[in-house]
Amino acid sequence: MRLEDHLAKILIPSDRLQARIYELGAQIARDYGDTRPLLVCVLKGGVIFMSDLSRAMSIPHELDFMAISSYGGTRTESSGVVRILMDLNANIENRHVLIVEDIIDTGHTLHYMVDTLRTRNPASLKICTLLNKQERREVEIKLDYVGFDIPNEFVVGYGLDFDELYRNLPYIGVLKPEMYS
Ligand code: IMP
Ligand code: MG
Repeated sequence: MRLEDHLAKILIPSDRLQARIYELGAQIARDYGDTRPLLVCVLKGGVIFMSDLSRAMSIPHELDFMAISSYGGTRTESSGVVRILMDLNANIENRHVLIVEDIIDTGHTLHYMVDTLRTRNPASLKICTLLNKQERREVEIKLDYVGFDIPNEFVVGYGLDFDELYRNLPYIGVLKPEMYS
């Protein structure tokens, strides 16, 4: 089975992803300087993006991970009811925290993350997302760094999954509609 055969098209090829991530890394490095920020990856979708973003940042920084789950949605939509499955290792009080996400869709997942992390009194809390589906937003969220604005299509690859597959594709693709049904 070839995963590529399940795609209707490639939305963002690998070279465009890498070029944009390089720009984001340089911009984040300029903005944070010597403040030793903590990048917080939202598992599992953010892991591929964070590993490339981290390598595009020439400043000292740390990495940490958090896993959350959302309940009761469908296979292509989250429900907005969110729970922490695995918490951060680091104490973020007085730290400069940058949340690294794969995609912001309705915004419920990020909204919950931001609310939760804010209660721990970080020095600053910002959001970096590779993809943004603005059209689908249900709760307003201020995004500090956005890789690409994309249309309302279900995408996979580069960390993003459908039913836990396709995360390893080195580009962002759109699944054939028959794959969900
Ligand atoms: P939100 O809470 O609706 O913003 O959903 C965010 C989460 O839903 C993301 O972290 C993804 O795991 C998942 N998600 C949303 N849209 C897509 C998509 O197009 N492809 C794959 N996963 C998606
Ligand atoms: Mg997912």
